[in-house]
Amino acid sequence: MNGAALQNIRTRRVLREMTAEAVSREQIEAILEAARWAPSGGNLRPNRYIVIENAETRRLIRLVAPGMFQRAPLLILICTNWDVVAENMLPADDRSLLIDVGTAAQTMMLAAHALGLASGPVTSYSKEAVKVILNLPPAYSPEMFICIGHKAPAARPGMRAAKKITWRDLCHWERFPNH
Ligand SMILES: Cc1cc2nc3c(=O)[nH]c(=O)nc-3n(C[C@H](O)[C@H](O)[C@H](O)COP(=O)(O)O)c2cc1C
Repeated sequence: MNGAALQNIRTRRVLREMTAEAVSREQIEAILEAARWAPSGGNLRPNRYIVIENAETRRLIRLVAPGMFQRAPLLILICTNWDVVAENMLPADDRSLLIDVGTAAQTMMLAAHALGLASGPVTSYSKEAVKVILNLPPAYSPEMFICIGHKAPAARPGMRAAKKITWRDLCHWERFPNH
């Protein structure tokens, strides 16, 4: 794969072992700036990002997040702001809302990787508990955490796929034959 952007996409892996070293303010802002450029359905931009560095807040979140294996020094929580959804008369079950979370998440993780940082998404947590811990406004729903930090020296690669997947395994060309 050629080109820095393609190389960045290909080499990003979800990392679950991080050091305690803080992510710099400059790096945090670069990641948030990247997320601002993620594609958004109808360009509505209903996502809001909560930056969490406080150690006690991170500890509480880990207690209610069984899928958060990282002890990341930085958490960015992607929220949907339902006021924006209502203002734009978007149905609550519009798929673009979740897709927007995905485009922001991948953009942040690619930005973190380009900065030499480790990252990983987490969706396994109690939404109700997170709302209380962060005192979220009623219009905000917590959709996905992005854990970010510095890669631990002995970090193992993420979950192994049952078999090695190539792009060919995931793609079809043109119309399906009769079935
Ligand atoms: C929608 C979604 C939810 C995920 N939730 C979690 C999670 O709760 N905890 C976790 O450790 N990884 C989570 N992951 C990361 C996946 O396990 C990971 O992307 C997958 O194993 C492939 O690894 P790779 O991105 O390094 O190729 C999630 C990924 C996605 C796209």
